[in-house]
Amino acid sequence: MSQSLTEKLESLKTEALRELSATLFNLESLEAFRVSYLGKNGKLTQILKDVGKLSPEERPKTGQLANQIKQVITLEIEKHAQTLQLEERNKALQEESVDVTLPGKTMWRGTRHPLKKTMEEIVQIFSNYGFQVAQGPEIESEYYNFDALNTPAWHPARDMQDTFYTVDQTVLRTHTSPVQIRVMERYKPPLRIVAPGAVYRHDDDVSHSPMFHQIEGLLVDENVSMAHLKGMITGFVHQYFSPQTHVRFRPSFFPFTEPSAELDIECMMCHGKGCNVCKHSGWLEVLGCGMVHPNVFRAVKYNAKKLSGFAFGMGIERLTMLKYGVDHIKLFFENDLRFLRQFS
Ligand code: DAH
Repeated sequence: MSQSLTEKLESLKTEALRELSATLFNLESLEAFRVSYLGKNGKLTQILKDVGKLSPEERPKTGQLANQIKQVITLEIEKHAQTLQLEERNKALQEESVDVTLPGKTMWRGTRHPLKKTMEEIVQIFSNYGFQVAQGPEIESEYYNFDALNTPAWHPARDMQDTFYTVDQTVLRTHTSPVQIRVMERYKPPLRIVAPGAVYRHDDDVSHSPMFHQIEGLLVDENVSMAHLKGMITGFVHQYFSPQTHVRFRPSFFPFTEPSAELDIECMMCHGKGCNVCKHSGWLEVLGCGMVHPNVFRAVKYNAKKLSGFAFGMGIERLTMLKYGVDHIKLFFENDLRFLRQFS
């Protein structure tokens, strides 16, 4: 009996090792193999059930042998498992391999719109001169857009601008100048404000769009002179364009300033020699400006005798086009990424 139990154990070992070396396992079938030999109801356990029938002297020896055999088989299974795991990992690595020679995907970063950039740049230059940013509504009353700016209904200047009317006495503002009035109504002098924003006119060609942007400027104090205006505006041009840019102030007319002027800069395409961009004049018109008209002060109940001030207004699209050599205003509104990315 004891002989046959030992024999059974030995032949179990032989059988297990033979099966292990002869079979092509995967991790799953290997586990099934382990359970079939060493599991709770496995072949080894079945054999060991008969240990109780042995004589007390034989039991420890047989038990020892059983443990040895269990260890040998376990070790062999583990070896197999390690090999299988390695193979599986290698296979997975190969399947998931990254071809590092493939070109990468370009991640484009968003950038500020060129008009926004110009606006912020101009606001920054004037904020260094102590100007604060003010805003007003785009749907504006005729009073603020015209009347309070010394432009009564009969005034010929009112025809100068092609106005979009909404309902009676309400317009899409044709310029940012009404912000001057709104600020002066609310705040006491002295003041320095710039007002960037959208404006609307019935106009549409390569350099005009029905919606465009302006920045308005207003400085009010005592003893403000045209010299202050010229100094500050020239300084602005030198910062925005270049310190070498030549400027000229040319007499002009606006109802809300007296005297009024337009500022020209020397054409940067031909350096004043004359070309298509400057229509062979050598100069480019950049902004309108002037000394605040006393009637404007009166409209906001400022003391027109004591106070003086200057104002200016400029087109953002125009300034951006001149600086970057953009030849069509529509490019700003089409959102073509090939255009916009050039400003990043
Ligand atoms: N509002 C004028 C326009 O849209 C520009 C302008 C000219 C504004 C002279 C001013 C100024 O403040 O003083 O054409």
